[in-house]
Amino acid sequence: MANNEATDAFCVATGTWKPGITSAEVLRHYDNMAEKYDKYVHDMSYNGPRQCAEALAEVMSGNKAARILDVAAGTGLCATELLKLGYTNLDAIDGSQGMLDIAKSRNLYHRYICDFLGPRRLDIEDDHYDAIACCGSFSQGHLKDDCFPELIRIVKPGGLICIAMREEFLHTVEAYRGKLEPAMVALENKGCWERMARDIVPKYYNDKDGVVFIYRVLAQ
Ligand SMILES: C[S@@+](CC[C@H](N)C(=O)[O-])C[C@H]1O[C@@H](n2cnc3c(N)ncnc32)[C@H](O)[C@@H]1O
Repeated sequence: MANNEATDAFCVATGTWKPGITSAEVLRHYDNMAEKYDKYVHDMSYNGPRQCAEALAEVMSGNKAARILDVAAGTGLCATELLKLGYTNLDAIDGSQGMLDIAKSRNLYHRYICDFLGPRRLDIEDDHYDAIACCGSFSQGHLKDDCFPELIRIVKPGGLICIAMREEFLHTVEAYRGKLEPAMVALENKGCWERMARDIVPKYYNDKDGVVFIYRVLAQ
């Protein structure tokens, strides 16, 4: 498929998914496109994984042994960037076995968890991780704010959650417009986490801005 072509569900040139696409459809498409994913995003100058890894590293105080979960890890592009920065204690979770299989072939993570991120409890104990990196995973039909409580549960008090996404999706994706950031604020008001940063980063995906949120998890 050439760069400017679109499937019924995904337009490579814009990196956008069809409005109303379901989670099940999204995950099936990732399974089908897994082999081609890295070339698609490389051709579109996808800088998100580097920007996410660098933003997280900046607030990690140099703890290179930190246990980090790459959430919606895909083929492991964010892990590749974290490894370059010296972070080697990495696990992956993603709903697409096809994407995880590519990551596995690269030997990037200790644990590869194929599971759906949403409100349901994950097979991960409380307070397990020092940090979460979550890049490119808030998009049409992808993660929603309903997964935040689970992410908070599995991160240690004082641990960090870094979420990098296309800035425009905050306004253009129906599930996020007027909902995603208010849900983040509501969790802050409940004392679940505190915001450390909300930075706009240029050229996150081709010429599109990204937004990088960093939250510190508070003792519950
Ligand atoms: C654009 S890719 C990002 C992959 C990687 N983080 C990166 O930046 O290259 C989005 C990933 O989110 C995963 N995903 C989407 N919705 C999910 C859900 N509800 N639960 C688990 N994984 C999901 C997909 O399988 C896919 O691998």
